[in-house]
Amino acid sequence: MSSKFVLVVASRKGGAGKSTLSQVTAEVLAKDGQEVTIIDADPNKPQARWKSGNSQLPITVIDDVSESNIVKHIDAVKDGFVIVDLEGIGSRLVARSIARADLVVIPIQASGLDAVEAGNTIALITEEEELLRRKIPYKLVLTRTGVAIPSKIEKQMVTELTEAGINVMKNQLNERAAFKSIFVEKLSLYEMDTTKISGLEKAIQNAEAVAQEIFA
Ligand SMILES: Nc1ncnc2c1ncn2[C@@H]1O[C@H](COP(=O)(O)OP(=O)(O)OP(=O)(O)O)[C@@H](O)[C@H]1O
Ligand SMILES: [Mg+2]
Repeated sequence: MSSKFVLVVASRKGGAGKSTLSQVTAEVLAKDGQEVTIIDADPNKPQARWKSGNSQLPITVIDDVSESNIVKHIDAVKDGFVIVDLEGIGSRLVARSIARADLVVIPIQASGLDAVEAGNTIALITEEEELLRRKIPYKLVLTRTGVAIPSKIEKQMVTELTEAGINVMKNQLNERAAFKSIFVEKLSLYEMDTTKISGLEKAIQNAEAVAQEIFA
């Protein structure tokens, strides 16, 4: 039996960590033997550039993406996981991707501004829900957080969002050199050299915990 799951990574905030989260999640799934397609709708094409490297992980990257073909691209994938890495603006391309999502994940950094931007993304999801008359599940995930104790602003943000009834993930994608290195080395977390990249094993553990919670 074929099954397909469309994960859309969206945030109106530029640099919130969408591309990093998309890539890391794809790597965990592919390593687990899942079929994975990333649709690279980021105008800087980070996923296509990653794909031009030497990674042996079987991740398909589609990058000739526009507002007129995004739905066709998503629908053309018949099996496995589709991960849509979006641009950091509100656009028709973003709205159309969200319309096709089984789940939207919104990465945010622990700052007040990011919480506002997350609110804008949630408003966009709500508009699509009204239009389509279906629920579109979404989760917020804090990104680039410290590995030590959570900061005061971070704790306050989680409390406020949770009180507002917003699903904030328990696991956070930590700030790790390894998460930058995947795009520099054009390799997956599983293919980089543990002796060269500090904290690589911890980064892998973190990535797997985050991916697991996304699909839980
Ligand atoms: N967990 C992380 N650990 C370390 N660096 C990170 C992490 N997440 C993101 N970064 C860094 O922050 C910057 C922005 O991240 P990224 O490109 O993933 O964000 P984005 O939301 O896709 O941005 P854009 O809106 O421009 O597409 C990059 O330099 C990236 O390497
Ligand atoms: Mg990006």
